Amino acid sequence: MAKAERDQSITIKTAEEIAKMRVACQLAAEVLEMIAPHVKPGVTTGELDQICHDYIVNVQQAIPAPLHYGEPPFPKSICTSVNHVICHGIPGDKKLKEGDALNIDITVIKDGYHGDTSKMFHAGEPTVAGKRLSAITQQCLYLGILEVRPGAPLGNIGKVIQKYAHANRYTVVEEFCGHGVGSRFHEPPQILHYYSKDSDKILMQPGMIFTIEPMINQGKRHLKILPDQWTAVTKDHKLSAQWEHTILVTDDGFEILTLRAEEAGWRSTL
Ligand code: MF3
Ligand code: CO
Ligand code: CO
Repeated sequence: MAKAERDQSITIKTAEEIAKMRVACQLAAEVLEMIAPHVKPGVTTGELDQICHDYIVNVQQAIPAPLHYGEPPFPKSICTSVNHVICHGIPGDKKLKEGDALNIDITVIKDGYHGDTSKMFHAGEPTVAGKRLSAITQQCLYLGILEVRPGAPLGNIGKVIQKYAHANRYTVVEEFCGHGVGSRFHEPPQILHYYSKDSDKILMQPGMIFTIEPMINQGKRHLKILPDQWTAVTKDHKLSAQWEHTILVTDDGFEILTLRAEEAGWRSTL
């Protein structure tokens, strides 16, 4: 795609759209808060899906965006990616066991707009390796967010994420990226979590809304997709972690639309 075409397809949200995105994003964040006490050894990822589905549909009166999304249609309402699953794990009847690390990824549609966010959880007491990978991956997300400001090249985001991951002897998954989000689940631009000079061709502008969602591996970066055509796992079966926020580019920086109450002090953790 030529640069001009690619730039044209990035939507700049109006004040009305931004207001709707704030609502959808806060609902997605609330699902992650709601599900937290349910994540413990013995629960199945299918049960977590059912609880989130019912909450989104009945309490929030919103739509779980993953359900029937894509080709083949995603069969569940949330993604649950356990241990060596990188992303797009399909909830099922396997029980979580003590020390499992998992990402829960929530996307809700409210009033036609998508809010997309994910975080890591641990069933019971985290393992040392799982806790460290999860913490470093969350820092990667926050460092990426701090690069968001009008006029900055998109490439700045991947640059800092990659640098911090590598400094901690981890690798960055390259096959999946962040994305513009709004009335569509996935829209331009792509937000790479590693540095590529191509991504410097697009400058951030106020009113852009996109996700940053680094997937960071304990071992090699390579992945394979399971026969279900969704589940992405590390080739070497080592751990992978992911955190995701939906970000608005503002006139003087950024707004984290999917911020949770527990993250109020996030800047002081850096
Ligand atoms: N929420 C994921 C993302 O961040 C996409 C999930 S697509 C699904 O981009 F179909 F697997 F739900
Ligand atoms: Co996303
Ligand atoms: Co997501």
